[in-house]
Amino acid sequence: MLVAPSILTADFAKLESEIKKISQSDYIHLDVMDGHFVPNISFGPHISRVISHTTRIGLDIHLMVTDPYPWIEQFVFDTTKYITIHYEANDVVNTIKKIKEKDIKVGISIKPKTPVFDIVPLLKDVDLVLVMTVEPGFGGQSFMASMMEKVKELVKLREEKKLDFIIEVDGGISDQTIDVCRVSGVDMVVAGSYVFNHKDPEEAIRSLK
Ligand code: DX5
Ligand code: ZN
Repeated sequence: MLVAPSILTADFAKLESEIKKISQSDYIHLDVMDGHFVPNISFGPHISRVISHTTRIGLDIHLMVTDPYPWIEQFVFDTTKYITIHYEANDVVNTIKKIKEKDIKVGISIKPKTPVFDIVPLLKDVDLVLVMTVEPGFGGQSFMASMMEKVKELVKLREEKKLDFIIEVDGGISDQTIDVCRVSGVDMVVAGSYVFNHKDPEEAIRSLK
């Protein structure tokens, strides 16, 4: 299982030492929120760039913004591995193209109320599908187990259509919810509060892996 800790729950006053605590992670997940697409504002390109200079770990950037298109350039760092936008955002097709032009892997995310059916035409164009297992906006919410049906549907579609995107889930991931993710076919999990509120974040990452 690939593990991408979300720094949303980290202590921003000591970001450098917080990032050191997760040196075993596969990616670092950055939750960018605009206060419009979701009812919260987190951080933007500046803090993301600072983080990219703090670690060599690849960045998995999750844009929870209504208009991602004009912002893409500002999230292109040496270590940006994935940029994920939401299907519910504006100008999705052009934004996917733009991310690809930058040679960055592209993800498409769906909120809990959006069915997999809606993104089927886009699956051939993406490297990652992010199934939200909470309503986006805040860390520390409860995992929605019913979202595993979407994961299973995606596993089936990937096989039928011979595609190779990876399946990521985000929200409420812990040692209590990781098993159902694994058996449903999840490839990568995002974990915020479980990792950063753990007394030993490296142990938390190991337990998820
Ligand atoms: C929610 C964010 C998540 C969040 C996960 O909008 O996309 O990445 O930080 O936090 P936990 O793991 O605490 O649910
Ligand atoms: Zn996220």
